[in-house]
Amino acid sequence: MSHHFKDYRGSLERSLEHAVSYLESLDERPVAKEITSQQLRDLIAGEMPQQATAPEQVIDEMAYALDAGLVASGGPRFFGYAIGGTFPAALAADWLVSAWDQNVPYYVSSPAMAVAEETAAEWMVELLGLTKGSAVGFTSGAQEAIYTSLITARNSLLENAGWDVATKGLYGAPQVNVVVSDQIHSTIKRALSMIGLGIETIVKVPTDDNLRLIPQELERVLADINGPTLVCAQAGCIDSGAFDPFDEIADAVANHGNAWLHVDGAIGLWAAASDKQKHLLKGIERADSIDTDGHKWFNMPYDCGMVIVKDPAKITSAMGGGNMGDYLNDAMEKPDRNAINFGIAASRRARGLPVYAAFKSLGKQGIVDHLDNCCALAKRMADILREVEGITILNDVVSNRFSAQFGTGDVEYRNELTARVVHRLQQEGYLYPSTSGYKGLKTMLFSVLNYHTSIEDIDNSAMKIIEAFNTEKAIFVKPA
Ligand SMILES: Cc1ncc(COP(=O)(O)O)c(C=O)c1O
Repeated sequence: MSHHFKDYRGSLERSLEHAVSYLESLDERPVAKEITSQQLRDLIAGEMPQQATAPEQVIDEMAYALDAGLVASGGPRFFGYAIGGTFPAALAADWLVSAWDQNVPYYVSSPAMAVAEETAAEWMVELLGLTKGSAVGFTSGAQEAIYTSLITARNSLLENAGWDVATKGLYGAPQVNVVVSDQIHSTIKRALSMIGLGIETIVKVPTDDNLRLIPQELERVLADINGPTLVCAQAGCIDSGAFDPFDEIADAVANHGNAWLHVDGAIGLWAAASDKQKHLLKGIERADSIDTDGHKWFNMPYDCGMVIVKDPAKITSAMGGGNMGDYLNDAMEKPDRNAINFGIAASRRARGLPVYAAFKSLGKQGIVDHLDNCCALAKRMADILREVEGITILNDVVSNRFSAQFGTGDVEYRNELTARVVHRLQQEGYLYPSTSGYKGLKTMLFSVLNYHTSIEDIDNSAMKIIEAFNTEKAIFVKPA
């Protein structure tokens, strides 16, 4: 062994020290600290270094300087957006992923990682009750999984219409109709705008008061549309946690003739693992493709998402595995898992390894307990707030999240008061909800995804929310 390899020990030990002291501070530290970008620049930027610095020193200086700009989003009281924490075994496995530095697109470049990801993929399909043999690719997040899914959908729909998009491109291709829930996430629109389907002709299907797609409206829309059609639904809406009615949607898609059903499960797909929750996803196994995130509700370290395609041949052909250079022919001919067939990335880290470690460490029961606990805690918070005069919970709390509004009377006043309450809470730093929108209203979005959140965190946070509401109500007087 070259003596240079011994150089890793010192800096990794410093990293371990900083990582553990950060993680152990998560319960106490303010969720977000007040710091400006200029203050951060003053701490870490400056002239490009010309001379070497010892790795241990780099790690120490970096960790001390950046601490003030970290957001404790892995802590137990980060309730904004859709951000989870990390399961211990997953985080530790992720460190090994970096240390081993394996490249995973081909079996030959890391047989160990290929089989670990294959196993994680199979366990995931089993856990979620999806079709055995579905293809699973590990992506950087739901956005990349959506991108992968919609490219696969586009190619398959056009192939059914007699058009080989991989060879001919989209020049002169039949139009692909796109029908989505009116609550579809912006990442679907981003993907459509990037893969040549465009967003101008998207047809939006209305949703109900809980932001759940109305299936009769979808049937009506599909009855008027001919030709290749992509339908996008959601498992877990960001603002209400609602699940679209997949069985009815899948029936409408099946009746169409040439339609593909994609489900964005970034927020809620994991609920399918729980006996208490899986009724919400009835029919999900009928989707042609699904995206989800590991780094949200499944508490993987960033970055980790998954794409699941029911027919592996469809994703394999869409990912263009036939276009490889000669130097890869041997690798591509191997019968084992070549991850490049299941995603856009070629070289990448072994994101499936932390997933494998989480399955091993929690087991099915541990995973289900985590999922059920998050939903029970979200419901507990909503139940406490609902009792306070002037706080309105806007949706039925079916999953890990809800939207709330503060105040009574005039909409503009309520919107402003709600934003003020949320901003006050963010500045105080004990908990961190975020603002969002709900059918035109400004809201507080409250999301529980972290494995560390306890009943005590919820009860104490509820008190802080009520205090912030009372304070802002007293300061911000209703316009006459
Ligand atoms: C419903 C939904 N879909 C997709 C995404 C995109 O996920 P990612 O940021 O992991 O790419 C998000 C992100 O919050 C989301 O809430």
